[in-house]
Amino acid sequence: MNVLLLGSGGRENAIAWKIAQSPLLKDFYIAPGNAGTADCGTNLDIDILNFELVKKHVLEKNISLVIVGPEEPLVKGIYDYFLSDKELSRIPVIGPSAKAAALEGSKDFAKKFMAKYNIPTARYSTFTKETVEEGVAFLRTLRPPHVLKADGLAAGKGVIIPLTTTAAEHELREMLLSEKFGQASKKVVIEEFLIGVELSVFVLTDGNSYHILPEAKDYKRIGENDSGLNTGGMGAISPVPFANEKFMEKLKERVIIPTVEGLKKEKLDYKGFIFFGIINCQGDPYVIEYNARMGDPETEVVIPRIKTDLLVLMQAVANQTLHKIKLEIDERQAATVMMVSGGYPEEYEKGKEISGLDKVTESMVFHAGTKLSNGKVLSNGGRVLAVTSIKNTLKEAVATSYESIKKISFDKMYYRKDIGKDVGA
Ligand code: AMP
Ligand code: GLY
Repeated sequence: MNVLLLGSGGRENAIAWKIAQSPLLKDFYIAPGNAGTADCGTNLDIDILNFELVKKHVLEKNISLVIVGPEEPLVKGIYDYFLSDKELSRIPVIGPSAKAAALEGSKDFAKKFMAKYNIPTARYSTFTKETVEEGVAFLRTLRPPHVLKADGLAAGKGVIIPLTTTAAEHELREMLLSEKFGQASKKVVIEEFLIGVELSVFVLTDGNSYHILPEAKDYKRIGENDSGLNTGGMGAISPVPFANEKFMEKLKERVIIPTVEGLKKEKLDYKGFIFFGIINCQGDPYVIEYNARMGDPETEVVIPRIKTDLLVLMQAVANQTLHKIKLEIDERQAATVMMVSGGYPEEYEKGKEISGLDKVTESMVFHAGTKLSNGKVLSNGGRVLAVTSIKNTLKEAVATSYESIKKISFDKMYYRKDIGKDVGA
């Protein structure tokens, strides 16, 4: 079958690498892709938010399955666009409908959904421009630090955690009255601060049944020991040592089953990946956020641990036969370390030539922000490469990624040297 994958990050390179191994695959396209995905199939340099253009390529190239990597096309309704188009309606899109993707696209919607289905999450209230003074009063009932969340998509920057009530009041006014995040902060969710360790859990659902994929831990801050600014993610490991059987059982009963059942009850079409941002509060799981897609860089450790043919899984999602497919997981330990451009997550330079990629033998190098130019691989983003290794122990996996990184170089490259250290690597 001919497949189109949408996206251009490390997540998409990992998915593309896995799809490319399927015997069911005929022609494979990635839009827009990067220098890494070019090794798995053919890149299409198109704007994936231009659904008309996506349609043209899908028909021209006789695509029979579309997999969506990032959230934006989903929140903007690519699933619904296909379903309502006469020529496209028979072509499955892996990813939720726009209404279901609101689990990520609207924090207020997600909180209401969790409240309705008794899914454990932080206590909260939602405010608008008109109710800003009530918001201030609510803040004063909570102990700092305060968690302020712009309702809509804000490129991963919409969550602010001021340390004092005064700072939180100022932020709330900025978000609601000065539209700090534009449309995204027309509504703001204020919630109580939860204390615990975070992990990312992924479910693949066909709308009826589901499989729990390997969980992962993401390292979000730019600096070692989780210091400095938040990033898209500087590394990840899978499995996560504290996600033991007891914890995962609680998570399944209290969070995963109520979510999948809730989606069904609300008649929200969801055929794709659900990302649960979880915090472990003294052994009990709470939902920090939902995402309508896989995580990045979590995908770079989750996908390599899946032994089952990913295209078989994707087809089963499309046909709602997921319950018939056994999910086989590699029990070994995976670790990925992100190599980023100097300056990221603030200003950084692009277009740096990357050398040494061909010298890496013990790790998989997934491209996150790269492009091909006259046969050379150039950096093309803040996060540039994810170097993943799978070994019997976490220590070995992490050490192998660091050995591989030594062989790669580009001007002003940076990476964290403590991935996995907090959990024994
Ligand atoms: P999000 O953009 O929803 O992933 O939130 C960004 C980060 O803010 C999360 O990864 C958490 O580290 C933190 N965070 C969000 N909500 C809470 C909460 N209620 N309590 C503590 N930390 C939170
Ligand atoms: N790594 C976190 C995310 O993908 O949102």
